[in-house]
Amino acid sequence: MNQVNAKRLRSDLESLARIGAVPREGITRTAFSTEDSLARGWYRDRVEEAGLRLELDGLGNMVVCDLASAQEVPAVWSGSHLDTVPNGGAFDGAVGAVAALECLRRVTELKLELPRPLRAVVFSDEEGNYASLLGSSGMRHGFSRAELAAMVGRDGDRLLDALAVWPWSTGLPTETRVDPARIHAFIELHIEQGARLEAAKTDIGIVTAIVGLGSAHVTFIGDVDHAGTTKMTARRDALVGAAEFIARMPDIPRAVGSDCVATAGWMRLHPNVANVVPGRAEVSLDFRDLSRANVERMGDELEQLARRIAAERSLEVRWNAHPVISPAPLDEQVQSAIGDAAAGRGLSSMRLPSGAGHDSQNMAPLAPTGMIFIPSVGGRSHSPAELTHWPDIVNGANVLLDTMIRLAGS
Ligand code: HGY
Ligand code: MN
Ligand code: MN
Repeated sequence: MNQVNAKRLRSDLESLARIGAVPREGITRTAFSTEDSLARGWYRDRVEEAGLRLELDGLGNMVVCDLASAQEVPAVWSGSHLDTVPNGGAFDGAVGAVAALECLRRVTELKLELPRPLRAVVFSDEEGNYASLLGSSGMRHGFSRAELAAMVGRDGDRLLDALAVWPWSTGLPTETRVDPARIHAFIELHIEQGARLEAAKTDIGIVTAIVGLGSAHVTFIGDVDHAGTTKMTARRDALVGAAEFIARMPDIPRAVGSDCVATAGWMRLHPNVANVVPGRAEVSLDFRDLSRANVERMGDELEQLARRIAAERSLEVRWNAHPVISPAPLDEQVQSAIGDAAAGRGLSSMRLPSGAGHDSQNMAPLAPTGMIFIPSVGGRSHSPAELTHWPDIVNGANVLLDTMIRLAGS
């Protein structure tokens, strides 16, 4: 039976985890940062060491090919992301990105003659500093110059400014659509980021569907005033409006559906000074469900709530919603191939949906797509507490290898 090189896989993941490590505070390798660039340099070195070739696109998505096959040949693709949330963990994205490369390396070393070639891919800004699943959305449908120009990161910086000095791109950010004919199938290995596999003592998760993602920025606007001399009755305090909105916001997902979730993740204040009444408060919103209709309904109701609170408090409000990323059912045949691969190795498996977003949901409309989950200790993720045990990572990578080989012959 073919096996990934478990020692190399672990040593690669440990090396990668040092890039962007913050003592006791996890890993910060946000998209298009110095740390992201260092991680890509590290990854390119591994690709070249293995005698493979790296191709870039205009948003910095990276595709690894062998030297023999032409770019346009339909291939079995696998990949994930190297970027992290600020102070995130060492496994989200990294496991799938490195395991995909490991599968290409193993197939090359073992000189396996497959009917179809394999590709590994690293997607840019999966964590959505500038836009949810930015890189894979670019591959799926591309972005116009105007759409890219409107994208601003959580620190207020513009995506186009970041890209202008980014070495890992072709410099043509509107040219990222991938021809679906190039992808025979796509499969992503990822940590579960929830506790269902651990609770069920199950080795491998076979993902049935990925949640739809809604996102918006809501800005409350009032008057900047002196904190000592402005009577309480005379204030138009943007932060008080935003705070009331945030406190009432959780009622909306609860009312729309039992699995619906909504999160206010960050807030930007102007002028953000202790002795000044806040004039502007901008809040990020992330809302999700497996039903697109529920995601759209949450978006509508969140907007109505913001408008109601603004009217009650004599504030202005701006609602800026981003396009919903559809929920994605995953391919039945790829699910069966994963199940067979797990069973072939004597591993237990179960089917489950994903509450996290993944680049796979952008690949699903392009080609038959599947995802393999491995257990997360305590279900923790997007946190320095994120942990997956090495034997589970090796199991997942071996199931990925088997599934890619199987799909390359089908
Ligand atoms: O936000 C997400 O679900 C993913 O981790 N990017
Ligand atoms: Mn993540
Ligand atoms: Mn991820």
